[in-house]
Amino acid sequence: MRWWMVAGILSTLARLPGGKRAYALLQQRYGELARLEASSRFDNAEWIVSQARQWCGELGDLRCVELGTGWVPAVPLALLSAGARVDTYDVSLLCKPWLFQRTHEELTRRTDAIAVAAGVDRSSIAERLARIRNSPDLAAACHRLGGRYRAPFDTSRLPYKDGEADLLVSNLVLQCVPPEILPPLLSETYRVLRPGGFAIHRMRLSDEFAVRDPQRNHLEFLRYSRTRWNLWFNSSLKHQNRLRASQFELLFTEAGFRVRNCDRTVDEESLPVVENLALAEEFRDLDPRDLATINLDVVLQKPSRQPASSGAYRMPAQDAAHDV
Ligand SMILES: C[S@@+](CC[C@H](N)C(=O)[O-])C[C@H]1O[C@@H](n2cnc3c(N)ncnc32)[C@H](O)[C@@H]1O
Repeated sequence: MRWWMVAGILSTLARLPGGKRAYALLQQRYGELARLEASSRFDNAEWIVSQARQWCGELGDLRCVELGTGWVPAVPLALLSAGARVDTYDVSLLCKPWLFQRTHEELTRRTDAIAVAAGVDRSSIAERLARIRNSPDLAAACHRLGGRYRAPFDTSRLPYKDGEADLLVSNLVLQCVPPEILPPLLSETYRVLRPGGFAIHRMRLSDEFAVRDPQRNHLEFLRYSRTRWNLWFNSSLKHQNRLRASQFELLFTEAGFRVRNCDRTVDEESLPVVENLALAEEFRDLDPRDLATINLDVVLQKPSRQPASSGAYRMPAQDAAHDV
């Protein structure tokens, strides 16, 4: 199907009463949910567990917050099965009981891989997964393993005191958040993390409408101005903010985070396309390799010694001796 048809269908559904439900049914019949077990989310979940283990140490009793649960709760369930206490939040309630069950079944098949990623014995993973096998839904399962699922939830204000969380994670979420919401959202994640705590984010930066359109390069969406993109193609059902890797990195550091690790995947084949594209003004000053970065994985850390005020950079105070 042509990319603009997909965009048009989603924009129309987003405006219709019952449109969200119709979108869910389409996803279930023809989209990713029809082949849920083949979804990249399970590999992503293993990757997040392994990163959490690498940066935070043992996962048992780690207090973890996830932004953007989505339809397929592979990330929170994998972390919970590894012993972390995970609270997962989404602005939309998407995870239905059957999605929880199917995700649980697939994770059970992947017990060995999760155990390797978490650096623990497979029996502990198997035991936790068995404990939630008969849970009626994701909320009950999270509760049984010491976590929570809350959706719909306004994540601009997370229900924690400052510094209560050890780890914050998101998988394929930050590229879906409207750009004006990102700075306050990142500041809120910074607030709830303890000094020295980590945030792990995986982002996909290519055009999701173009996935099934062989005539369309997945970076061609950079030709539209923000106004045109939002007016004609973007929708609340599949929001794409189109921010590039360097723009995300700037937002992370502006929120006060230290970037501890940053893996970028540049789509080398699309580089000539990007170099010859009539880019929208907001992208013209960016390096082609930055524009052609299609996957971005970051590990951020809240510094142990906090700056005077998080976020804004302050000039160092003048030495009194130089003040005269
Ligand atoms: C592409 S989905 C990814 C879902 C899930 N993390 C996964 O791996 O399948 C993006 C999700 O982010 C959620 N989302 C968007 N903005 C959000 C926000 N400000 N806070 C929390 N979740 C948000 C959407 O509702 C959606 O469920």
